[in-house]
Amino acid sequence: MKIVAVLPEGLEEEGVLELNSLGAESINKSRGIVKFEADLACFYRLHFQARLPFRFLREVSQFTLKGKESLYDSIQNAFDWKNWLNPSKSFRVDVSGVSEQLRHTHFTALQVKNALVDLQRSIWGKRSNIDLISPDICIHLHLHYNNAILSLDSSSNSLHRRGYRSAMGIAPLKENIASGLLMLSNWDDSLSLVDPLCGSATFLIEAVSIARYKSPGLNRSFLFENWPDFDKKIFSEEMLRARHLFSPNKKLPRIVGFEVNSDIANQAIHNINQAGFDKDIEINIGHFSEVKFPQSPGIIVCNPPYGKRVGKSKDLQAMYKEFGAFLKNNASGWDLWLLNGNPTLSSFLGMKCSKRIPISNGGIDCRWLHYQIH
Ligand SMILES: C[S@@+](CC[C@H](N)C(=O)[O-])C[C@H]1O[C@@H](n2cnc3c(N)ncnc32)[C@H](O)[C@@H]1O
Repeated sequence: MKIVAVLPEGLEEEGVLELNSLGAESINKSRGIVKFEADLACFYRLHFQARLPFRFLREVSQFTLKGKESLYDSIQNAFDWKNWLNPSKSFRVDVSGVSEQLRHTHFTALQVKNALVDLQRSIWGKRSNIDLISPDICIHLHLHYNNAILSLDSSSNSLHRRGYRSAMGIAPLKENIASGLLMLSNWDDSLSLVDPLCGSATFLIEAVSIARYKSPGLNRSFLFENWPDFDKKIFSEEMLRARHLFSPNKKLPRIVGFEVNSDIANQAIHNINQAGFDKDIEINIGHFSEVKFPQSPGIIVCNPPYGKRVGKSKDLQAMYKEFGAFLKNNASGWDLWLLNGNPTLSSFLGMKCSKRIPISNGGIDCRWLHYQIH
């Protein structure tokens, strides 16, 4: 199968490493996506174990658009709909990109939907329901100039949602982005981990999940279970394989979060309980200046407010200054990784950055900054 993994921009290289380690082949990355080939076993394995993708799209057809009107016929002839789109199944159409003549994704999606329901009526005398929230089949069309790629999306919701985070604090990081940032920091379970401004504890929960090999996709269903080539035996084997990886008794280093807002700290505790990691993560309600760092070496990860979504940039300057001074006085020998969307603010830390990795965080152009604290 030809698959596209949709990834957070900036984490493509980590995505390649992850996909490769899980058996993907012929891997090719470009901005925000990684293309690869996989057999069914690998495809199911990725859904259980991969931490970084937002979604996986399975390509089923490519065609050239010869004008706006040709879309209708091209869609009807592009794929074996008779076997894959029985009217008993609901569907949704998503469109990305534009062509010279199809410049509105919503309009294009309606055209695709019309072509498909008309085809269904001509075959079966009835048509599918459209379900935008929870369809049985999710059809994806990508347009680039006059080239069209038709795919099936393997999940109707984004895979970054692991299910443990019912409470989200202010401006939470998406789980897959937090995971990817941890991978970029080279944190492993030989090192203590502290998030002094932990919000809903996404970094800390993802870290334990990585350290305990807890597969992120075990408690969800996937749309490929509705596809006619779904292979229950291979799926169950991969599920078992993913379950067996989990290492609940391994000793972990100290993993600590501080959060000044008590409501948000309680949400973090709730999320940690939902994830089943209450024995692994300590959450403290308090200002970051109360952090007592365990013995080095260790890694500090955080995304302090940076004025785009939380707080005002001016008010935050003093906070960054205080944070930098506190770390220099109290965390000597530690590494700091800080996600920042405002270069003016990070300069107030008063430390020299040794790495600066561009990351898109919910459309905000951010940098994952590394500092060695002396
Ligand atoms: C952008 S949010 C962090 C989001 C978090 N990474 C998540 O995924 O939920 C920043 C957090 O820092 C907290 N905060 C702000 N000032 C703080 C301080 N002085 N000490 C500790 N926490 C603070 C805020 O209450 C907020 O929850």
